[in-house]
Amino acid sequence: MDFLKPRYIPMSRRRRIYEGKAKVLYEGPEPGTLIQHFKDDATAFNAKKHEVIEGKGVLNNRISEYVFQNLNDIGVPTHFIRRLNMREQLIREVEIIPLEIVVRNVAAGSLATRLGIEEGTQLPRSIIEFYYKNDKLGDPMVSEEHITAFGWDTPQEIDDMMALAIRVNDFLSGLFLGVGIRLVDFKMECGRLWENDVMRIVVADEISPDSCRLWDIKSNEKLDKDRFRRDLGGLLEAYTEVAKRLGIMSENEPPRGAGPVLVKG
Ligand code: TMP
Repeated sequence: MDFLKPRYIPMSRRRRIYEGKAKVLYEGPEPGTLIQHFKDDATAFNAKKHEVIEGKGVLNNRISEYVFQNLNDIGVPTHFIRRLNMREQLIREVEIIPLEIVVRNVAAGSLATRLGIEEGTQLPRSIIEFYYKNDKLGDPMVSEEHITAFGWDTPQEIDDMMALAIRVNDFLSGLFLGVGIRLVDFKMECGRLWENDVMRIVVADEISPDSCRLWDIKSNEKLDKDRFRRDLGGLLEAYTEVAKRLGIMSENEPPRGAGPVLVKG
């Protein structure tokens, strides 16, 4: 498989396909592949709050790689092929479904606010919510009725996404529990992957402390992007702690000093 052999294209000559708030997508070395580049930008409240936190992209690249590689290994289909360097991974090009799928195990964030449930309350069962990906509208919550009526997705694809979301939630809950972290909730995205004439729904985008709520089991300390959203400080230290507990970074590896990689061209 040719795309498994890297063909390095200098950054400046790569075609940029899409730039989001925390990532950039470049064309990949082979058709049907893309390069996903993790930036250091942290945003919240639909980018009204914005900061650059040096080293965040490196940590998210590594943590997301770890999660996606494990999902691939247990047979949950994803867009992930492999990590290329400190900030980039090779992924399959998919057609992103314009929905954010949020799975919640414990009340927090917008659910706690909207329904007046105290943060930290264990939910009677895992709850799946959908948000329409649209920055202008601030990603509003939508129901399956909206999704099918407006043609963003079919009932069959919604079922597929919910089945994937439950598998990802079970996997992540166990993974984090094993390292003393409670998976409170997380957001994931799905894409349509075309292989010849066959299409399947796969997990796409990233899964990292930017898109999860992770609380230390013992202290309830937040080890996720709420440190930035709520001005708690210590974001890099928290993400580094997650990486260390997962065994991704050695105890002594510093989170800093991992700037852009120079590629000779
Ligand atoms: P919420 O409680 O603010 O609705 O967030 C639910 C989960 O989704 C939480 O783990 C953070 C994540 N999330 C994102 O990844 N991106 C977003 O834009 C928002 C609002 C939440």
